Amino acid sequence: MPSSLLRVLTCGSVDDGKSTLIGRLLFEFGSVPDDVMAALERDSKRFGTVTDGVDYALLVDGLSAEREQGVTIDVAYRFFQTENRRFILADAPGHEQYTRNMATGASTADVAVLLVDARKGLLAQTRRHAAIAWLMGVRQIVLVVNKMDLVGFEQNIFDQIVADFDALRDRLGDIPFAAIPICARDGDNVIRPGSRMGWYGGPSLLSALEAAQPFREPAGRPFRMPVQLVNRPDASFRGYAGTIASGQIRPGDAIANASGAVEARVARIVTMDGDLAEASVGDAVTLVLDHEIDVSRGDVLAASPLPKAADEVTAWIVWMVDTPLFRGRAYSVMLGTRVVSGTITALSARLDIDTLEEVPIQELRLNEIGRVMISLTQPLVCEAYTDSHTLGGFILVDRLSGDTVGAGMVIEAKSRPRNLHWQRLDVDKTVRATLKSQKPAILWFTGLSGSGKSTIANLVERRLVAMGRHTMVLDGDNVRHGLNRDLGFTEADRVENIRRIAEVAKLFVEAGLIVLVSFISPYRAERGLARDTVEAGEFLEIYVDTPVDECRRRDPKGLYAKADAGQLRNFTGVDAPYEPPTTPELHLPTLEQPAESLAEQVVGDLQRRGIVF
Ligand code: ADX
Repeated sequence: MPSSLLRVLTCGSVDDGKSTLIGRLLFEFGSVPDDVMAALERDSKRFGTVTDGVDYALLVDGLSAEREQGVTIDVAYRFFQTENRRFILADAPGHEQYTRNMATGASTADVAVLLVDARKGLLAQTRRHAAIAWLMGVRQIVLVVNKMDLVGFEQNIFDQIVADFDALRDRLGDIPFAAIPICARDGDNVIRPGSRMGWYGGPSLLSALEAAQPFREPAGRPFRMPVQLVNRPDASFRGYAGTIASGQIRPGDAIANASGAVEARVARIVTMDGDLAEASVGDAVTLVLDHEIDVSRGDVLAASPLPKAADEVTAWIVWMVDTPLFRGRAYSVMLGTRVVSGTITALSARLDIDTLEEVPIQELRLNEIGRVMISLTQPLVCEAYTDSHTLGGFILVDRLSGDTVGAGMVIEAKSRPRNLHWQRLDVDKTVRATLKSQKPAILWFTGLSGSGKSTIANLVERRLVAMGRHTMVLDGDNVRHGLNRDLGFTEADRVENIRRIAEVAKLFVEAGLIVLVSFISPYRAERGLARDTVEAGEFLEIYVDTPVDECRRRDPKGLYAKADAGQLRNFTGVDAPYEPPTTPELHLPTLEQPAESLAEQVVGDLQRRGIVF
């Protein structure tokens, strides 16, 4: 049994022959059961694209039943083995929208095989794949130029493609690479050298893969293990289960919880097959310590030097969804076994996949790779991706939908500058509010332009003031004359608009005031962010629900007329979206009741909640 294992990422565009190539390798070395073989021969006659014999692509693209679905989309893993080595192929499909799958496959690959159609040369796709593979830490590339038969086996065509790739490689750093001209359909240079390209003296693709080095965590990396589970079947046993991310461990070694720094020694390394005298990177183990230290799921056990807990990370992000990424947006960051909330505080550049230069941007779009800074709400033990794929690789998850929106790689992890202290003050929010006989709160009025937010907020404030309450109003139209004068109405600007207002509203809450915020605030994500700036119970989302046609009919500022005439762009409800609240604390349907009674309801609700008493 060959023991060494190589993980290969195969990337290529839809019709550059990748399926044929993989199919051939699987056919020669994989285990293709007899009945599948029979089906392959049968399907080759019916659907195949080769005139005689077996169409190996069918083995990869799926047999009859699946064929109707067309191209396969997810990363598919396939296995084969030769006398010398076992191989896992992660097959990243070529379409642009599947960059995300490519990123997933690349995160564990030792080698990337980039397939190029000899007739087309290096495509934007190929460059993107090379860039992602490089960012993901793949440090060996095999450039396979397929369909050489269709260019008459011409050496200069091959040489030109290699030269183009070389130019790209200059910017990627000195990645070892081999370039191999092949004809996947007939097998030239795939498994054995072919006779039709006498000018090529290099290895076949299979030989190149057999000779490639598997990725190794840099030697001498200290021990790290994210804790997946605290295993405590009874009072006599307490173990920490996880997969070792780097380094080795033996009983007697000193380790600590990276976020606590209290040391303990390893007493036992427990596995399903009994205790071990040593375990190393990749092993799934349960560690028992010689005495109890404070460790929970999501913590990282580590040997010194301990990794630092960071609350500010710079990272590369591969963006995976249609809605762009903006500065100011908050997401869940999932790294190792931890999940924390993080805000994108800077979006400095996008990686141009042709030049590999960094280009300044305002927003990061689908399939783009950007450099960001993320500010975390809680410190997270992490390391640079180049040091540890486990503690440096993360995903960004939309906090509302739960969808994965991006894959990230930590460039640098830091703690926020030490010279910025949080000043502890003796007079706090409670003192300030008690003096005013009230509880501070944010009343967040959201709704379309012209829906009546400001009218109702104004009536509510008049009632509160008449009751002797202390209030403050923040109104979109007014704040945009001052603090937010620099912002317009693009999605990115609105995100920033609301981020600032949420911070200002929070300061007023600290002052002990009841803050009435009246902004369209069209996006759920930012309203959620605003909610999170204060304590539970201090934020009331009030949906001023007026249908767009009614707003258009009222049109107090004449803006709908302008927007409908095309004189005003990005107007909410016309050519910019509004995401209504799903579970607001208060829902005010303005068509059904006059503003006065709606304001009355708001005040009644504040009394019921004990905000006003
Ligand atoms: S928000 O979307 O960023 O929350 P905000 O409440 O600050 O908007 O400002 C909305 C006000 O700006 C509207 O009531 C309207 O008077 C004015 N306005 C000007 N242009 C636009 C636009 N394109 N979309 C919405 N409101 C606009």
